[in-house]
Amino acid sequence: MDIHGEKILILDFGSQYTQLIARRVREAKVYSEIFPYNFSIEKIKKFRPKGIILSGSPASVYDKKALIVNKEVFGLGIPVLGICYGMQLMTHLLGGVVAKAQKREYGRAELHIDKSIDLFHGYKNWISGEGQRHGATTVWMSHGDRIEDMPSGFTPIAHTDNSPIAAMANIYKGLYGLQFHPEVVHTPYGRNILENFVYRICGCSPTWTMKAFVDYSVGHIKEVVGKEKVICALSGGVDSSVTAALVNRAIGKQLTCVFVNNGLLRKNEAKSVLDTLKRGMDLNIKYVDAEARFLKKLKAVIEPEKKRKLIGREFIAVFEDSAKKIGKIDFLAQGTLYPDVIESKSFKGPSAIIKSHHNVGGLPTRMTFKLIEPLRELFKDEVRVLGKELGLSDEILWRQPFPGPGLAIRVLGEITDERLNILREADAIVLDEIRKAGLYREIWQSFAVLLPIKTVGVMGDERTYENVIALRAVYSLDGMTADWAKLPYDLLGTISNRIINEVKGVNRVVYDISSKPPSTIEWE
Ligand code: XMP
Repeated sequence: MDIHGEKILILDFGSQYTQLIARRVREAKVYSEIFPYNFSIEKIKKFRPKGIILSGSPASVYDKKALIVNKEVFGLGIPVLGICYGMQLMTHLLGGVVAKAQKREYGRAELHIDKSIDLFHGYKNWISGEGQRHGATTVWMSHGDRIEDMPSGFTPIAHTDNSPIAAMANIYKGLYGLQFHPEVVHTPYGRNILENFVYRICGCSPTWTMKAFVDYSVGHIKEVVGKEKVICALSGGVDSSVTAALVNRAIGKQLTCVFVNNGLLRKNEAKSVLDTLKRGMDLNIKYVDAEARFLKKLKAVIEPEKKRKLIGREFIAVFEDSAKKIGKIDFLAQGTLYPDVIESKSFKGPSAIIKSHHNVGGLPTRMTFKLIEPLRELFKDEVRVLGKELGLSDEILWRQPFPGPGLAIRVLGEITDERLNILREADAIVLDEIRKAGLYREIWQSFAVLLPIKTVGVMGDERTYENVIALRAVYSLDGMTADWAKLPYDLLGTISNRIINEVKGVNRVVYDISSKPPSTIEWE
């Protein structure tokens, strides 16, 4: 089966929701990809989409620097759905009129459907569904401009109080516009609208499933690799674990996974990751104990960026040594995900730059491996479904992210065995209690940080002068922005008591209540 056979192309005009559109379409089991708004007509034709979606945008079609799509996109005989700015652009380019709305419309609105057409198939259920009122269905609006006059051939198909033309269609040409955002959860029946578009209007069938993806990828990897050898750096994180499992499914023992213990892992982490990964999967893992090597390099290093660079370089050296021992290797398998791919070829906002210093595991060009990146088409949630399909445990699939430099950037200041051990013990208590409270999955990251100061305390009749542990727990979707987690006081109390009672050398625990920005998630 060709899982990429029936696909939707999304043109990105810079909306914060563009990736959500792609995810919703994929949740309908139809493959979708995002391209920049100025993707050429030739390339669009070559991609052979069954439908095109134009995203929203922070811009206005009248801005001097408005992002404009080639008008030919509306004449390819391929259905087009314009969302918000996408609808305004469609209007503007096809001869209609867009104007500033009297009032910027932001938030929930009641949508009244005026024409029962394919895009709204099944809408009678939406207006009688839970929370829906007066024969209307709730939608999410976020726009400053609105359609004053539609291009010829279009009919209004829905309205809200503020937008007389909240949706429009030219069904003969297969062109549709929505002023609201069907891709966000605040539009409860948005998913149905997008499904109607891809199934009923574009004629796609639901072929994009993770089971089909596994079959496809296994065949593809086998073909590309042939009889050669593949190496993969396994960290125990979701992406590298799923990559390894998938490549292993395709070529078995031709794959060697290298797990480097850099001495900067959490308590019992190396053992538990390896045990979990080996369970139920005959994975060829080479465990490299490089603890002493890393700690020697990090001796007396205090500056965070220097720590990062040293660790990055040492990792490459260790990895190279291991690769040499395996013999001739042609391929390197990496867990690059779709958002990284889009980020590198689409708009580069400031966020892309902030992230760059995190790629400490990047391999130097002198290592002339050919790359296999079997997850390059997938979003994180799809990677988890894929991992499940491959039989990986929830323990691996739902692990909180852990930075490449590990505890080195959580032991603030100098890294010694003793300080690492204090942090490990405290950190293990944090995770244990967060898990017991049932918060592990919903919290993006939760951990302990060892501060480079000592404070005074009293124990029995004696004054103590010991270490301070800071607790950090944040909610986040992607690590780019984060909110500090409002953990229950009781939970904070339990964690603090346990750390002070159980971890020798700590007499004070504080809680970090800063969000990102302006703070960051890590302390170094
Ligand atoms: P910050 O601290 O910048 O972190 O808010 C955002 C996310 O990135 C992780 N992080 C790193 N990951 N190498 C990594 O692989 C690094 O040097 C690094 N620094 C931060 C951090 O844990 C969070 O998930």
